[in-house]
Amino acid sequence: MNTLEGKRILVTGASRGIGRAIALGAAAAGADVAVLARSAETLDAVAAEVKDLGRRAVPVVCDVTDPARLDAAFAEAADGLGGLDTVVNNAGGFYHSGPFLELTQGDWERTRGLNIDPTVQLLRLAGAHMAANGGGSVLNVTSIAGLGGAPRLSLYAVCKAAMVSLTKTLAVEWAAHDIRVNAIAPGWIDTKLTSGFTSHPQVKEALQQEVPQNRWAAPEDVADAAVFLSGDGARLITGAVLVLDGGLTSQLSAVARGLLGVGRAAA
Ligand SMILES: NC(=O)c1ccc[n+]([C@@H]2O[C@H](COP(=O)([O-])OP(=O)(O)OC[C@H]3O[C@@H](n4cnc5c(N)ncnc54)[C@H](OP(=O)(O)O)[C@@H]3O)[C@@H](O)[C@H]2O)c1
Repeated sequence: MNTLEGKRILVTGASRGIGRAIALGAAAAGADVAVLARSAETLDAVAAEVKDLGRRAVPVVCDVTDPARLDAAFAEAADGLGGLDTVVNNAGGFYHSGPFLELTQGDWERTRGLNIDPTVQLLRLAGAHMAANGGGSVLNVTSIAGLGGAPRLSLYAVCKAAMVSLTKTLAVEWAAHDIRVNAIAPGWIDTKLTSGFTSHPQVKEALQQEVPQNRWAAPEDVADAAVFLSGDGARLITGAVLVLDGGLTSQLSAVARGLLGVGRAAA
């Protein structure tokens, strides 16, 4: 059963990329959707696409790094849809990449301010709302960067690792309230966030070559998994971190693949 029929869902970072695809995927699966981001114009366009799918849409303009605004925005989304069954915590990203010792305390505060502080606040809001209203589900968008070492992306990676920890902890704490908490960990997805890589053909190709499926994924590839985890078909799944990376983190090293004659390195 892969439907969100009758569900009311808030997606943060929904004006483009993965969040937009999740919002539209949820609407196509039958959900009413509150879409949150900073840019009013693009949010209105996504809201119009949701309505074209026959669902209600509530655009909520909010910078998640502003705690007072995030509190108010959550209330706007919940009031606008008459309650929230699912919250997708997707807004996030990185500002820079580089060796750890070249990054400053200011870089850390900025990265944490976008990825962790709003996550903690949004989870507190979502958990309280759902506990008071009979349950629900939360989906955190983390990254494969948060599952292991991530050279040159250390500050972003530690924030994404913290999301994995919170996902598992809250899955246990909130099970008694019928709230499921899961995460998805995408690999390389072709969005504005990764345009610094994809705009260089050689970098784009080199990163793709490392992926066993040999492709950059589209936001819609992520959205399909997000819709599944948000629906009742995933009713037994909580505390899970679903990796969506075309096999990238499952493989042996390139040298080992070549020596053993497996995978693309051997081809
Ligand atoms: N792309 C990948 O390869 C990849 C891989 C793993 C994980 N992820 C994660 O997936 C999530 C979405 O990434 P994406 O690739 O779709 O990035 P994206 O194309 O840059 O989209 C980011 C979205 O977040 C919104 N946003 C950014 N800062 C915000 C803020 N301060 N307040 C509210 N909204 C904000 C943006 O809208 P506005 O600018 O209008 O606010 C936009 O809607 C992120 O958490 C990212 O870390 C991405």
